[in-house]
Amino acid sequence: MNIGIDKIGFYTPHTFIDMVKLAEARGVDPAKYTIGIGQEQMAVSPVTQDAVTLAANAALRILDKEDLKKIDFVIFGTESGIDSSKSAAVYVHDLLGIQSSARSIEIKQACYGATAGIQLAKGHIALHPESRVLVLGSDISRYGLRSSGEVTQGAGAVAMVISANPRILSLGDQSAYLTNDIMDFWRPTYSDTAYVDGKFSNEQYIAFFLNTWEQFKSQTDMTIADFEAMCFHLPYTKMGMKAMREIFDEGTEEDQKRLTDHYQLSTIYNKNVGNIYTGSLYLSLISLLENDTSLKAGNRIGLFSYGSGAVGEFFTGTLQPEFREALAEAEHKNLFAEREEVSIEKYEEIFSEVLPVDGTNLQLDIESDPATICVAGIEEHKRLYVNKSR
Ligand code: HMG
Repeated sequence: MNIGIDKIGFYTPHTFIDMVKLAEARGVDPAKYTIGIGQEQMAVSPVTQDAVTLAANAALRILDKEDLKKIDFVIFGTESGIDSSKSAAVYVHDLLGIQSSARSIEIKQACYGATAGIQLAKGHIALHPESRVLVLGSDISRYGLRSSGEVTQGAGAVAMVISANPRILSLGDQSAYLTNDIMDFWRPTYSDTAYVDGKFSNEQYIAFFLNTWEQFKSQTDMTIADFEAMCFHLPYTKMGMKAMREIFDEGTEEDQKRLTDHYQLSTIYNKNVGNIYTGSLYLSLISLLENDTSLKAGNRIGLFSYGSGAVGEFFTGTLQPEFREALAEAEHKNLFAEREEVSIEKYEEIFSEVLPVDGTNLQLDIESDPATICVAGIEEHKRLYVNKSR
């Protein structure tokens, strides 16, 4: 059965900082951030956005009334969950008005969560071909002010409708995956910032890519020449290239050039948003599809998903005849155009604004946040969400 991505959209908060200005404020050569890491801007999430609202805002942009009636499974991949018990998917289900005969769950495995969601959705649709599944990947990446990971922070969400006979990308049945218990990046439940062994995490990312790529090739007869493009989980935009370069000697100069040219276009959005963890690979896919005018129906795209801790997966998708019409390119370009740059001082102030964790009630000013769906405050330990369009 032909199953895959029928719709795909993203959302990122309305404020961002410039990486050259961050480098200057941190006393670092700006080329380290813009070339060495490969980031130009970083999304800054206000206190009125969290993983739930980012995901709901991403989905709001792509769902129509028919989807709301047909979606019967909401799968929310995140590592920025707001509750250890109730899933973020249940809030989104309500905020969007999805019909009630639906399952709604949250999945966690670092940045791999949305990929796990897609694979689960595929199984569900194989059994129920009429179903539509909403898969969300939403995160706010926080390492801390002046930490080595600060330059790789970001915030945003991707929403995808997975269905039979998808209009954008048909997902291949062959998939190679790997699990290995390592401590390259983690966030204990008592911490709102991540811990990371940076160099080790880079090495493991590449090792997981090479392992799953080798497994994939032995499962199929494919080689590097069978791929028009490859998209990667992008904690920062140099990372995917570091991994892809490792297999370049398997291809011709033409293969290397083709993959490099497409890769550049797959990093445009990520360069300006930062790491959005679960949504990162799919933001890169959106960037490729919306910025690369040379892609054609039938092109095969390799997808590498990596979630620290760690789980990796290499899988593929094939572009469908109507893929261009099904994209939300104009919406996404507007989203970027309407963002507002904030100073490094303002970013530090926003970074430090967090919801109380001691039971204090708080009302937030949601008028200063142009997003349709916002966190309006906290009352008796319950987050209050508002959909301004209702
Ligand atoms: P660092 O120590 O600040 O940077 O850490 P560095 O000294 O390694 O430099 C980075 C690069 O900039 C190097 O290039 C330098 O040569 C270059 P590379 O050797 O890597 O090609 N450089 C310059 N280039 C031009 N001009 C200059 C200059 N100076 C230096 N003047 C690190 C960087 C990414 C490790 C750090 O920011 C970090 O720990 N980030 C968070 C962890 C991370 O993103 N890991 C990626 C793999 S793990 C993953 O993807 C999972 C994750 O998304 C979490 C999840 O799954 O949930 C993170």
